[in-house]
Amino acid sequence: MQQRQLGKSGLQVSALGLGCMGLSFAYGPALEHNAAVKLLRAAFDQGVNFFDTAEAYGPYSNETLLGEALAPVRDQVVIATKFGFRNGMPAQGLDSRPDTIRAVVEASLKRLGTDRIELLYQHRVDPQVPVEEVAGAVKQLVQEGKVLHFGMSEAGADAIRRAHAVLPVAALQSEYSLWWREPEEQILPVLEELGIGFVPFSPLGKGFLTGAIDAHTQFAADDFRNVVPRFSEENRTANARLVEVLGAIADGKGATRAQVALAWLLAQKPWIVPIPGTTKPHRLAENNGAASLALSSDDLAAIATALAQIQVVGDRYPAHLQKNVNR
Ligand SMILES: NC(=O)c1ccc[n+]([C@@H]2O[C@H](COP(=O)([O-])OP(=O)(O)OC[C@H]3O[C@@H](n4cnc5c(N)ncnc54)[C@H](OP(=O)(O)O)[C@@H]3O)[C@@H](O)[C@H]2O)c1
Repeated sequence: MQQRQLGKSGLQVSALGLGCMGLSFAYGPALEHNAAVKLLRAAFDQGVNFFDTAEAYGPYSNETLLGEALAPVRDQVVIATKFGFRNGMPAQGLDSRPDTIRAVVEASLKRLGTDRIELLYQHRVDPQVPVEEVAGAVKQLVQEGKVLHFGMSEAGADAIRRAHAVLPVAALQSEYSLWWREPEEQILPVLEELGIGFVPFSPLGKGFLTGAIDAHTQFAADDFRNVVPRFSEENRTANARLVEVLGAIADGKGATRAQVALAWLLAQKPWIVPIPGTTKPHRLAENNGAASLALSSDDLAAIATALAQIQVVGDRYPAHLQKNVNR
C-alpha cells in the first residue's frame, strides 16, 4: 500500500490505517480474541501499518489486544492511542490533567507491551485544563522518548493553534466523511497552514455509507448507534438517498460504496489518512482496495454535484457528547 506523510511531522504511515475500536467496543459485542488477532495481522499483511486505538476502547482491552497481535511486527507499525476520559470511560467525563496524562501513558505502554507510542492523541479537549498544559505534559513524555508524536481529536481551530505553539501537532483525528463535511470549513485550512496531518474517523459513516445498514437494521443492545440521532429509524430512511447515489457512482467505477467513500477522502488532500474499522476479513480487504482506487476530477465533480442535492439529517452525537466536540 502507498504511504502518506502526516503533515510536516515526519510521521509516515500507510494511506489507510485500521480503526480498531469496533474490535472491542461501541458497535455490539467484542470480536472473539483469536479472530481479532487474525484480523489485525491480516491488515498488516495487506500493507496497513497504522493502527488506531485508545485507552477508552474497552476500556483498556483494545490496547491489550493490539499489544499482543502486533508484537511480532512491532518495529514495522505505527501505533496511535489516546488519553483524555476520566478512568478511560467517556461516561465519566474528561480528564486531561498532566498527572493523569502521565499515568495513562505509563498504563498504555504496559498494555501495548511497548516502550513508546508513535502517536498520542488527546481524545477530547478538556475545558478544565488549558491545551498549553496538555501539550506541555506530552512534550515531557516526548523528551523522555515514551511518545514520538502529539495528536488531538475533535479539537477546534483555536485549540489546535494554541497547542501547536507549545508542541507541534502531528495529526488531528476528527470525524470526516461523505456525510460529515464540517471540517472543510475551518479545520482543513488550519491544518494545511500549520502542516498538520488529518486522520478522518468514522470514514464510512459508522457503516451507513456502505449500504449495509438501512432503516430496518437492528443494532445490538449495547451498540452506540442506538443513541446517535443520525441513526434513528426516521433519519436512516431520510439519509438512504445518499447511499443510493453513492451506489450509482460506485457501480460506474466498478467499485463498492465503501471504496468510493474512502477514495473520496484520500482524494481531498495528500496528508489525509482515513482509518476505517471492521471486524470482518472480507471487508478489510475491500476497504484496503480503496487505496488503489483513483477518482478522476470528473468523478470528484460528479460526487460533489450529487452531494450538493442531498441534505443529510440527524446529529452525529447525542447532546451529552456533542458538547465535547469542536472545542
Ligand atoms: N477520535 C474519536 O473520537 C473516534 C471516534 C470514533 C471512531 N474513532 C476511530 O475511527 C475508527 C473508525 O471509525 P468507526 O469504526 O466509528 O466507523 P467506520 O469506520 O466509518 O465504520 C465502521 C462500521 O462500518 C462497518 N463496515 C466497515 N467496512 C465495511 C464494508 N466494507 N461494508 C459494510 N460495512 C462495513 C463495520 O461493521 P463490521 O465490523 O461488521 O464490518 C462497522 O460497523 C474507529 O475504529 C476508531 O479507531 C475515533
